[in-house]
Amino acid sequence: MNRLPQSRLILSLFSLAIASCATQEPDNAFVSDADSVPMASNADTSTLIPIIDYKERFLPVIARNGMVVGPEQLAAEVGAQILRQGGNAIDAAVATGFALAVTYPRAGNLAGGGFMLIHLADDDRETLIDYRETAPAAASRDMFLDNEGNLDKQREYFSLQSAGVPGTVAGMLYALEKYGTLTREQALAPAIALARDGIPVSYSLFFEISASAQNLRKNPAAKRQFFQPDGSAYAVGDIWRQADLAWTLSEISEEGINGFYGGEVAQLITTEMESGGGLITAQDLADYRVVERQPVRGTYKDFEIVSTPPPSSGGVHIVQMLNILEGYDLQAMGHNSAAYVHHLTESMKLAYADRSLYLADPDFVDVPVTQLVDKAYAEQQRQRIDSNVATPSVDIAPGQLLGNESTETTHYSVADRFGNVVSNTYTLNFSFGSNIVVPGTGMLLNNEMADFASSPGSANAFGLVQGEANKIEPGKRPLSSMSPTIVFRAGEPWLATGSPGGSVIISTVLQTTLNAMVFDMNIATAAAEPRMHHQWMPDVLKMEEGFSLDTVRLLQAMGQNVDMASRTTGRTNSIMLDEGWLYGSSDTRRPGGWVAGY
Ligand code: GLY
Repeated sequence: MNRLPQSRLILSLFSLAIASCATQEPDNAFVSDADSVPMASNADTSTLIPIIDYKERFLPVIARNGMVVGPEQLAAEVGAQILRQGGNAIDAAVATGFALAVTYPRAGNLAGGGFMLIHLADDDRETLIDYRETAPAAASRDMFLDNEGNLDKQREYFSLQSAGVPGTVAGMLYALEKYGTLTREQALAPAIALARDGIPVSYSLFFEISASAQNLRKNPAAKRQFFQPDGSAYAVGDIWRQADLAWTLSEISEEGINGFYGGEVAQLITTEMESGGGLITAQDLADYRVVERQPVRGTYKDFEIVSTPPPSSGGVHIVQMLNILEGYDLQAMGHNSAAYVHHLTESMKLAYADRSLYLADPDFVDVPVTQLVDKAYAEQQRQRIDSNVATPSVDIAPGQLLGNESTETTHYSVADRFGNVVSNTYTLNFSFGSNIVVPGTGMLLNNEMADFASSPGSANAFGLVQGEANKIEPGKRPLSSMSPTIVFRAGEPWLATGSPGGSVIISTVLQTTLNAMVFDMNIATAAAEPRMHHQWMPDVLKMEEGFSLDTVRLLQAMGQNVDMASRTTGRTNSIMLDEGWLYGSSDTRRPGGWVAGY
């Protein structure tokens, strides 16, 4: 593989940023690169693009060679440009990850963590890069409890103690060095250019910063980072430059891992920690390690599901629920019928109950993954489901085995022309993490410590009951729901997907894959269909707008506690790979998502 001349890359990405600035297209996920679709005038388009059959209300973007689907346009185009210039999917995923730290600050990050699932075409294998944050050495089980034993939520969510030792930079550099083809400098150049030269404030960015303005303004460094020198907000169309972040990215580009976990950036992090009771030390940063893990695997009929293992709960529970649901004729029930939603709901109650007891960092706790994804266990679990009556959550204890999370995380999917596929989810936890910027770095700190069971047995910020297994311990990774997933059909990667949303990530990915596998929906339709969510506790079935009232009434008659959710559920960024074509869809539930293909 040719290595890209850095100057050419920077130049073309700079032109790209300018072009995007000049055209200012509306936020619209359904924009295709028309040049990528060979449409000879006498071509039989039904064989060229089988998905266009005039029956679909939602269509994906189509490309032939490479694609990046993500939450923000400039960063997705950074990845696509790298693919065009000969980079592979891992190169594109890493460059996109660094670029999102600049262009999508609510969840794109340097000082957060996540999971990257990779399908390597040449080796025909999958691997999972776990770059989840870890608890600092000085962290302890009850660190967020006050003298009366009550949880101090302000300290848990919005203080320097909220931050776990960041994993993103280590994870991105590890992926690049082991599986990419670009140099570090090439992969970081686009992000540096975007931070240094500035990006036009899009409607989405304006909206995201405005929504968190009150919290961001409380932290002086965040106020300097996200607002004008006089404290006023940047307007849509203004150019927003992030000189400090450009410097931090340059340190990483020049020094590699040491440019973040040692040297001046590390010093700025520890100085900030020392200024306000934070726990992360220079030793914690130096000790941070990426873990490469075997993904979780399962099957659903003829499909193979490859997903994220502990310390995420996502892959285990997606496979567990698919195992349970495989025993029903979902197609006959009808998509989003009351019977279908009821069976999904009951499966979710069982899986999320197990989550509360069994799931945690596997390097600290013996997580019974094999038993949880066992088909025989699913058979046993299925016996607990009454097809006509809802089982109250209080009557569901976590299963006897045979033998806090956030709405702001982000997912992107990448496919290249060599057959490699990347499904990556990473996060700061809350929107803008702890809302604390490390002075001099332009970088937000995560508040991932809130994903531990800070008060074991009680619910976290998102209502998920957290067990003793997920208690805070030094060096431990907090339990996650992030679920980057790749579904295989006939041994080939067929669908890469994932979502933000804390607890709803798991149910969102489940429904997206079922929509495609069982109901044969194209990926745009699979994303657009209304979704539901149940997480065992509280015993509430959240349903998005779009379900019929008849369905809701039938579910209520079965005993389901329906809540027509005031919020939407998840936000997928997916690629379907079929017959040599790439079909991309960025969920329209949030603005600004982008499919960049060629
Ligand atoms: N912080 C969200 C998650 O890890 O699931």
